[in-house]
Amino acid sequence: MLGTLKKYIKQHLFSPLLVRSRFLSNLYYCLFSRNFSREHQAVLAGRMKHLSELNKTRSNYYLLVRNTHRIEKGLLMRPRKVHFASSYLQETMDSFNAVWGNRQVEESSDGQKKWFKDVLSEYFAVVEDTPLIQTERRRFKALVNGAENLSAPDRSIPYVREPGMFSNISYEEFYKLTRQRRSVRWFLPNPVPRKLIDKALMAALQSPSACNRQPFEFRIFDDPHQVAALSSIPMGTKGYGHRLPVFVVIIGNLDAYPYERDRHVIYIDGSLAAMTFMLALETLGLSSCPINWPDIEERERQMEKALKLEPWQRPILCIGLGYPDPAGKVAFSEKRTLKQIRTYH
Ligand SMILES: Cc1cc2nc3c(=O)[nH]c(=O)nc-3n(C[C@H](O)[C@H](O)[C@H](O)COP(=O)(O)O)c2cc1C
Repeated sequence: MLGTLKKYIKQHLFSPLLVRSRFLSNLYYCLFSRNFSREHQAVLAGRMKHLSELNKTRSNYYLLVRNTHRIEKGLLMRPRKVHFASSYLQETMDSFNAVWGNRQVEESSDGQKKWFKDVLSEYFAVVEDTPLIQTERRRFKALVNGAENLSAPDRSIPYVREPGMFSNISYEEFYKLTRQRRSVRWFLPNPVPRKLIDKALMAALQSPSACNRQPFEFRIFDDPHQVAALSSIPMGTKGYGHRLPVFVVIIGNLDAYPYERDRHVIYIDGSLAAMTFMLALETLGLSSCPINWPDIEERERQMEKALKLEPWQRPILCIGLGYPDPAGKVAFSEKRTLKQIRTYH
């Protein structure tokens, strides 16, 4: 009875009124459709993990990355302010304290630890004193205990790009690479050296991400049994999924954010990294096909179980890859024109 009523309301109330009223839209997704419920839960789980870690340990890796990035922007600002970063200096130093003291090591690499330390050294070297800055400067100096090395040539701080740092790839060559990359669904059965995948990932890691937080992971499978099992979870791999040499699932970490406003950033950052990854694969003689992640409860549950995902982790995109079969066709996929996608204002 209730089911029939719901069905009736769903059919008859799905009207422009729902779209015009935010309250009714919310009501619809509260009472008649659960399609967003997993996303809501994951966003909350991420916020909770981020904030409770901060509460418990006064430290958070993602906060430290974001704030180090913000300090770098302050350092390269023209003109540079005499005081900046005061509103988040204390929390930055709290997190730095934990990372530098190796109490929160699981996330930070040596390179990032050096980056945190070098940026903070530069900050304290150039910023003018206020009582707060003075206190935090003392704390910093006591912590790093002479490791600032302000004259070292390889400091991880804002820099001017030297001519030698520029690539000599021409636009024409780059454009050719973008045309070379097509979604490839037929591959040779040859194994793919992990060394090559890692090289493509090194390029993917250079992609931009909001405040440099890089809230994603690439889970890579090259065992044929695992590939067959996992590639059948998303839709869109019918007919070719089981023959993919390598299957990748890109996972987004929603615990990178304390606020809902950033809930879409995992998808943006993950996709930017995916794009670089796929282009890099082409330069290594490999090809790929992006595979949609459908937000369907049953499939989400399957992937969650298979990859042992945490409540704040969400699949973003899957990618199949391998050595392309030269005889395998690719779709023509005519693209839209400049005129269709571009307006200058
Ligand atoms: C987000 C996304 C999801 C996709 N999902 C699938 C998929 O599930 N199955 C598939 O065979 N191709 C999938 N593709 C590949 C597209 O079909 C392909 O990119 C598009 O047709 C354009 O062709 P091209 O990549 O060769 O330029 C996906 C691509 C993207 C970017």
